[in-house]
Amino acid sequence: MCNITADLKEWFKIHSGTHASKWFRFFFFLDEGLQTVILYRMASWFRKIHLTIIALIILKIISFIYKTEFGINTKIGKGLVISHTVGNMIYANCGKNLWIAGDVTLSSEREKGLMQIGNNIKIGMGARIIRNVKIGNDVKIGANAVVIKNVPNGATVVGVPAKIVKIYGKKVNNKKNKFKRSEKSKFFPKI
Ligand SMILES: CC(C)(COP(=O)(O)OP(=O)(O)OC[C@H]1O[C@@H](n2cnc3c(N)ncnc32)[C@H](O)[C@@H]1OP(=O)(O)O)[C@@H](O)C(=O)NCCC(=O)NCCS
Repeated sequence: MCNITADLKEWFKIHSGTHASKWFRFFFFLDEGLQTVILYRMASWFRKIHLTIIALIILKIISFIYKTEFGINTKIGKGLVISHTVGNMIYANCGKNLWIAGDVTLSSEREKGLMQIGNNIKIGMGARIIRNVKIGNDVKIGANAVVIKNVPNGATVVGVPAKIVKIYGKKVNNKKNKFKRSEKSKFFPKI
């Protein structure tokens, strides 16, 4: 349960530059992402003390009201932030500071176990991780990316299937997987 303090800290960090309504959402407890995270922490706590049935009921309530589905074995470290709750499926072992934009799928074949996701991860809107892959630390997954391979530390991956475009902020020259500039202009002629 003590993870909640870290979750709140991370929520404020992520929303630091945004408009003042965050205070309104915080004080009146109106943020659906925060509500989901707090309920998830309660479920994890019940799971930890072997009251699995209560944990399952809470997870069902989360999925019914907020449309975010957590697996009963999902583990997420401190600093979880969910910006939009609709459409998330989270079946994974995740480290600290995970930001989920919304409509995100983290789910692979059940028999292969849970995927491993590192620390300091940002997952963009609509992204899917659909195999039992390992995601390193400090990774950014672009909106609508479909990740089917392991992702190394510091990588930014985008596209379908997802390709690395940056490592720790430095662009990766991934010519094989990209259009050349000249090819791009054929598809998008200047008007
Ligand atoms: C992936 C992301 C974090 C990258 O941000 P960044 O480090 O600033 O990267 P850049 O904008 O410099 O993009 C690097 C390259 O990836 C491409 N790219 C970026 N995001 C992409 C995406 N989602 N899908 C496909 N390509 C993408 C860019 O066009 C660029 O390609 P180029 O080098 O050929 O021009 C960001 O684009 C993203 O998708 N953020 C998620 C946003 C979101 O979900 N917001 C919801 C708010 S609730």
